Amino acid sequence: MAAQRVSPDPGRVEVAIRREYGLLAPVYERVWARYLAASIVHTLDRLPLSAGDRVLDVGCGTGLLLAGMRARQAELDLHGIELTPAMLRRAGGRLGEAATLRIGSARDLPYPDAHFDIVTSTNMLHDIAHDHADVIGEWRRVLRPGGAIAVTDWDPGHLGTRIRARALSLIGRRPTLHTPEELSELLAEADVRVRGAQAYPAGTWGLWTVHGVRASSAAPVRPGETAGA
Ligand SMILES: C[S@@+](CC[C@H](N)C(=O)[O-])C[C@H]1O[C@@H](n2cnc3c(N)ncnc32)[C@H](O)[C@@H]1O
Repeated sequence: MAAQRVSPDPGRVEVAIRREYGLLAPVYERVWARYLAASIVHTLDRLPLSAGDRVLDVGCGTGLLLAGMRARQAELDLHGIELTPAMLRRAGGRLGEAATLRIGSARDLPYPDAHFDIVTSTNMLHDIAHDHADVIGEWRRVLRPGGAIAVTDWDPGHLGTRIRARALSLIGRRPTLHTPEELSELLAEADVRVRGAQAYPAGTWGLWTVHGVRASSAAPVRPGETAGA
């Protein structure tokens, strides 16, 4: 299983993230334009978007990915959830009535089981100071059997990413980075059939996108558990 550093207080980390992204929101897209463009295109290219699909973007930020989906397929039922109000306001300004947006945490989604055809998340998992197997299990819970999931995040195999992660740790933030192989393993444990895992450069960063399909409606078996127990 992928290595996971457990934080004693994920809620406190979320307060710090809200503060940080509250300050960054006005400049976010300008400062990280190249990295964002690459991550959005690579993620979109792995999504089987069909008319009528209900889609959730977890940690949707300023709504760039949701807007990209809409540009490729106009007939989508788009949803975004995001921790930081200042980021979500920008998403609202961009998407207007085209998406349903809510404030909330990626580790406790306010949606019914199997509600979405597609679940995505870009550049966000590293921020969550909570067991990532549980978080991925929560994303899988809201995805219907046969639905698609694509996750994009920072690649610890890339020097530029490691330098930035180190810089963040100097200001008290300790991002949890996974390799694409580790993320594939976490998805497989959550009963997702991984269809591809690709690492790529994005400006001076390194990112990866892992995508797959939820296999069945049976509850995934976690290590130490017995099926049906
Ligand atoms: C680097 S930004 C990425 C935003 C967007 N997905 C993108 O690629 O442009 C990280 C975002 O994740 C949000 N975030 C961090 N932790 C979160 C959590 N636990 N639940 C929901 N959103 C979270 C932050 O507020 C921030 O907007």
